[in-house]
Amino acid sequence: MPQILELIREDHELIRGLFDELESSPEARDVRCITLRRELPGHIYAEEVTLYAYLRDTVPEEIRRSLDEHARVRDTLARFERIPLRDADWMPALVNLRREVEEHFATEETDVFVLAERHIDAGVLFELSEIFQEEKEKAARYVTV
Ligand SMILES: [Fe+2]
Ligand SMILES: [Fe+2]
Repeated sequence: MPQILELIREDHELIRGLFDELESSPEARDVRCITLRRELPGHIYAEEVTLYAYLRDTVPEEIRRSLDEHARVRDTLARFERIPLRDADWMPALVNLRREVEEHFATEETDVFVLAERHIDAGVLFELSEIFQEEKEKAARYVTV
């Protein structure tokens, strides 16, 4: 299994792809929304119990900032989920959610990844990837559709 930062990057790519499809393919929106509602919260939760938990004591300010971003993404996702697909507010809400998520991903891929590589041993980064996958799968089971 690749190390955790590679898994996180793969998730980010998958979620960016989902946003592309949601914006461009109206016919696939309902099923892509279900996937987004499973993938995004699962990804965020799995990061918190692996990478963030591991870095929290070493770089508390950066992790606090990332946790705040997670809280905002969760709130925005919850508001987005309440808007019906055919509502005129749906696309602006999607664009807003995407911007927030992409800004957070960019922070992670630059700042947080650098900190992880600096402060976590390579062997641990590999070990964390297994826990990351397990936690994501567990979180996906609790998603109500
Ligand atoms: Fe994150
Ligand atoms: Fe992430």
